[in-house]
Amino acid sequence: MEVKTSLLDNMIGVGDMVLLEPLSEDSFLENLRKRFDHSEIYTYIGSVVISMNPYRSLPIFTPDKVEEYRNRNFYELSPHIYALADEAYRSLRDQDKDQCILITGESGAGKTEASKLVMSYVAAVCGKGQEVNKVKEQLLQSNPVLEAFGNAKTVRNDNSSRFGKYMDIEFDFKGDPLGGVISNYLLEKSRVVKQPRGERNFHVFYQLLSGASDDTLKKLKLERDFSKYNYLSLDSAAVNGLDDAANFRTVRNAMQIVGFMEDEVQSVLELVAAVLKLGNIEFKPESRCNGTDESRVKDKNDLKEMCELLGIEQSVLERAFSYRTVEAKLEKVSTTLNVAQAYYARDALAKNLYSRLFTWLVSRINESIKAQAKTRHKVMGVLDIYGFEIFEDNSFEQFIINYCNEKLQQIFIELTLREEQEEYVREGIEWTNIEYFNNAIICDLIENNQNGILAMLDEECLRPGTVTDETFLDKLNTICAEHQHFESRLSKNSKFLTDHSLPHSCFRIQHYAGKVLYRVEGFVDKNNDLLYRDLSQAMYKANHSLIKQLFPEGNPAKVNLKRPPTAGTQFKTSVGTLMRNLQTKNPNYIRCIKPNDKKASHIFTESLVCHQVRYLGLMENVRVRRAGYAFRQAYEPCLERYKMLCKKTWPHWRGPAREGVEVLMADLQVPAEEFSYGRSKIFIRNPRTLFFLEERRRQCLQDLAALIQKIYRGWKCRSRFLLMKKSQVVVSAWYRRYAQQKKYKQVKSATTVVQSYTRGWQARKLLRELKYQKRCEEAVTTISAFWHGTQVRREYRKFFRANAGKKIYEFTIQRIMQKYFLGLKSSMPSMSPIDRKWPARPYRFLDGVHTELRRIFHLWRCKKYRGQFTEERKAVYEEKLEASEIFKDKKALYPSSVSQPFKGDYLEISKNPKYQKLNSAVDEKVLLADVVNKINRANGKGTARIFLLTKKSVLLADQKTGQVKASVPLPDVASVSVSTQSDGFFALKLKEGSASAVKGDFLLSSEHLIEIITKLHRIGATAADREQLNVDISDEFLVQFKQDKVCVKFIQGGPKNGSSVSCKRKNNRLLEVSVPTTA
Ligand SMILES: Nc1ncnc2c1ncn2[C@@H]1O[C@H](COP(=O)(O)OP(=O)(O)O)[C@@H](O)[C@H]1O
Ligand SMILES: [Mg+2]
Repeated sequence: MEVKTSLLDNMIGVGDMVLLEPLSEDSFLENLRKRFDHSEIYTYIGSVVISMNPYRSLPIFTPDKVEEYRNRNFYELSPHIYALADEAYRSLRDQDKDQCILITGESGAGKTEASKLVMSYVAAVCGKGQEVNKVKEQLLQSNPVLEAFGNAKTVRNDNSSRFGKYMDIEFDFKGDPLGGVISNYLLEKSRVVKQPRGERNFHVFYQLLSGASDDTLKKLKLERDFSKYNYLSLDSAAVNGLDDAANFRTVRNAMQIVGFMEDEVQSVLELVAAVLKLGNIEFKPESRCNGTDESRVKDKNDLKEMCELLGIEQSVLERAFSYRTVEAKLEKVSTTLNVAQAYYARDALAKNLYSRLFTWLVSRINESIKAQAKTRHKVMGVLDIYGFEIFEDNSFEQFIINYCNEKLQQIFIELTLREEQEEYVREGIEWTNIEYFNNAIICDLIENNQNGILAMLDEECLRPGTVTDETFLDKLNTICAEHQHFESRLSKNSKFLTDHSLPHSCFRIQHYAGKVLYRVEGFVDKNNDLLYRDLSQAMYKANHSLIKQLFPEGNPAKVNLKRPPTAGTQFKTSVGTLMRNLQTKNPNYIRCIKPNDKKASHIFTESLVCHQVRYLGLMENVRVRRAGYAFRQAYEPCLERYKMLCKKTWPHWRGPAREGVEVLMADLQVPAEEFSYGRSKIFIRNPRTLFFLEERRRQCLQDLAALIQKIYRGWKCRSRFLLMKKSQVVVSAWYRRYAQQKKYKQVKSATTVVQSYTRGWQARKLLRELKYQKRCEEAVTTISAFWHGTQVRREYRKFFRANAGKKIYEFTIQRIMQKYFLGLKSSMPSMSPIDRKWPARPYRFLDGVHTELRRIFHLWRCKKYRGQFTEERKAVYEEKLEASEIFKDKKALYPSSVSQPFKGDYLEISKNPKYQKLNSAVDEKVLLADVVNKINRANGKGTARIFLLTKKSVLLADQKTGQVKASVPLPDVASVSVSTQSDGFFALKLKEGSASAVKGDFLLSSEHLIEIITKLHRIGATAADREQLNVDISDEFLVQFKQDKVCVKFIQGGPKNGSSVSCKRKNNRLLEVSVPTTA
C-alpha cells in the first residue's frame, strides 16, 4: 500500500512560507535560517521553490530520491527541486502544457546547479530507449562544453556563467525527449581581454593549456605556461577544487558525444589559441613624416604564429592593425591608427573572435541536438540567466543584466498573479485585488522606444558629431529626470543635487531589487561594439573555414553600409523574444538565494539573505499568494488526509469527495468565512485553520495508532495463541501416538511373553499327556506282550528244554537232601544234652540247614531230657538254674557248688528227735536246715547256729538246744550281700525300721552259701506279695550292727592255714575277712 504523506509531515519550520504565522520579514528569515540549519535548502511559496545554496554536496540528489519524488503530488513530500521538476514534467506530459522553468537569483546562488538538477531529473524520469538515451546524453553533455567556454571564476562564484542561457527541451506526446534548442544571451566578452582582480578568464583557456597533450600544444603553437599570455590573469589562475586538466578531457569527450567532428574541434582550439596569441601582439608608436602617429607591431613572432594558425596573410592583418578604412557614399577613406587605437582594435578583434566562436558553438550544438521529427513538440524551457548584479563599479554589462532581471521579475509578477487569478476564476472563487509592486515602470524607463535609456543610448551612438559617454549622460539627465526610479546628480530633479553618494559621471536606477549606480564610462563604445571593417575583412580572407564563417560581414561582395544593430538593441530584441516565448508557457519558479558571500557551507548571513528576499519580492510573493487563500488542496487528497476527523467520513466516504469535505468541515465546525469550496479544490483562507486541522489530525493519528497497535497486538497474541494451541495439539497428538505406540509395544511384548509361557505350559502339558499316553500305550503293549509271552510261555513251557535243567536241579537237590537226611538219621549223636557231637555237613550249601537242624535237634533232645524229670527234680534243677543266674561268673565259689546236689534239709529235722522241739516250733515246712556260723560282731569269731528257712521266715536256733535264737520274717530281709570270693560269708540285711532290725544285721557263714541264697531268692521270686530279694555281690559292704555300721572287707591271701577263712574285727568300723587266693 502506498503511504500517503504530506509536505506537512515532519516539517522543520514551515515547508511552505504561505503557512507562516505570523507573516513578517523576521519570521520569514527565521524560517529560512531554521530550515537551512537543518540542511533543508528548499522551501515553497505556494508552487515557487526557494533554493538556498548549501555550498556542499547533500545526499538528497540520489537515484533513490528521484524515485521517491517520481509521480508524487507537489505537496506530498517535503520541498524539493525534484518535486517542481516532476510537477512540470507531468503537466507537460499529461496535460500537454508547455512548461518553462525560470531560475533566478544572484550570481553564485545556485542557478546553474539548479538547472542541471532539473535536467538530470527529467532525464531520469522520462522514457528510455537507445535513441532516447542518445538524445538525453547529448542534451546533458552540451553543458560542459558551454560551461568551458562561457563560465569563469568570479569573486562570487568559481564557476560563474558569463552568459544567459535558455534551453528548450522538446518532447514527443509520450514525454520522451526528442531534442533541444539552446539560446544564449550576451556573453560577457570583455572578460576575454581583461578580468577584474581575483577573477579569471573563461575556463577553456586554462583547460587547454593544462589539459592538452604536448603534441596538441605544439600544433597550436602554444606553451603550457599561463604567464606567457597577456590575456590570462595570473593572480587566480589556479582555482581550488577545479581540475582544469581533467575538465579539458571531459570537455573533449562531451564535444565528441554532442557530435563535433575532429576537424571542428581542432578549428575551435585553433581559434582559442589565436585569441591567446592575439593578446600577446604588442604595438609601438612610430611617427610618420606627415606628423601623424602610427603604430607598428612590436614583435612579429606572435602575429606570425597567429596568422599561421588561422591561415591569414600576415601583411593583411598587420595592415588592419595600422589602418582604418571608412567608407561613406562610395568613398573610401583610410586613416592610420595610433597605438591606443591599435590596442583597441586588437582587443575588439579578440572579443569578437571569442564571442562569435561561442555563438557558433551554441548553434553547432543546436544542430546536433535539434529534434529530428517534424511533428508537434511539447516544450520545456529552462532559463538559467545571470542574476541581478550590483558591483562597486557597474557598467554597461550590469545595466543590461539588471534590465534582463527586471523583465524576468515583470514576467514573474504577471504570470504568478495571472495564474492565481486564473485559478480563482477556474475554481469559481471570488477574486480580491492585492496590492503589490509592479516593476513595469522600471522596465519602461529602460526599454521605452521613445525615451527609454536604451533608446537614448542608441540615439547618441548614431548621432553625428562628437559622441561621448558624458553627452549620453546629459541626455539622460534631461529626458529621464522626472522618472521616479532614475536618479542623477545633474538631473533637473533638485533633490539629488546634494546627494554625494551619487558621483557626477554616474546615474542610479532604483531597480525592483535595489538601487544600482551605473558609471557611464564605456556605455557608448560597448553599445556600438565596433569592429573595424579592415579587421573583419582580414578575417574573412583567412584560409580557415571556421574563421570565414564567423566574419560574414568581411565579405567584400556583401559590403553593407548600414550599421549593425547596437548591442543594447540586440539584447532588447532577444529579451523581448524570450519574454514572449516564456509567456506562452506555464511558468515554474526556482528562486535561488545564496546564504553568504564566502562560498562557505553552514554560514547564514542574515543581512545578505534579507536583501535577496527583499529584491526577489518573496514577501510580496507570499502576500499575493495569501491574499486570497493561504492554502488550497484538491478535494480527494484533502478528504484522504482529514477524513479521520469525522465519524461520517471515516474510514471510507462513499460519494463525491467534495461532499465528503463539506460534511467534514461542517462536522468540525470550521467557521464558514475560513474556507471556500472551489470546483475541484477547497481553499483555506488562514494558515491557522490548516494548523487546527493538522493538530486535530495529529491527535487523531495518535489515537488511531493506539487503536491499530491494540488491534495488532490483540491479533498477534491471538494468532500466537492459536498457533501455540495448534502446535500443542500436534505435539500432544504426536506424544500420545508415541506413548500409545510404546505402551502397545510393551503390552505386545508382555502378551507375547505370557502367550509363550502359556503356550509352553500347554505344550508341555500336552507333551506330558502325550508322553504319558505313549508310556501307557507302551506299558500296555509291554504288559500285554509280557502277558501274552507269559501265556504263551506257560503253555509252551513244558515244551522248553530250559525247564529240564530246573527239574534236574530240583531232583538232584531232592536226592541230595534225601541222602543228607538219611545219612543224618544214621549218624545221629546220643540223646545226652551235653553231648556236643554232631556229624559234619556234606555240602556247603546245607550250612544253614545243618546248623538249624543241629539247634532244633538239641532243643528237642533237651525237651525229651526235661520230660523225664519228676517234680522234685525239676525243682532242684530250677534252683540250680537260678543259682547259676545269680552267681555264675560273679562269685568264685559258684563253680564248686554246681556239682553239689541241693539237699535242703541237711539236718533232717522232722526225723531227728533232737530237733523235735525245734520242729514243733516251726509250723511251716522247712525248706532248708543247715548249720551256719554266726559271726560275732565284736571279734569276728563264729558261733554255730542252726539256720532254718521256711516260706515265711528265717530262723536261727541254737545248735545244741535247738532253741530259736532269732526269727526274721522274710519280708524284713531287705537284701543279701556276698563277696566275689570263694568264701561262704553272707550278710542278711534287714529292712530299717522293721522289728527284726533292732539287733542289727546278721553276718553268717555257710558251706551251702549258694543253695541258701538261691532259695532265699527263689522264695522272693515266687511270692507274689513280696519284692524280689536283692543280692549284692561285692568285696566290700556295710553291715548294720546295732547302731554302728561296719564295713566288711574281703582280702585275698588270708590265713596261712590253708583253705579256711579267717574273720577279724580290725576296728569299730572294719571287719576284715581273709580269703584264700584264687589260683
Ligand atoms: N544544490 C547545490 N548543492 C551543492 N552545491 C551547490 C548547489 N548549488 C550551488 N552549489 C555551489 O555553488 C556554486 C555556485 O553555483 P552556480 O549554480 O554556479 O551559481 P549561479 O549559476 O547562480 O551563479 C557551485 O559551483 C556549487 O559549488
Ligand atoms: Mg550560473
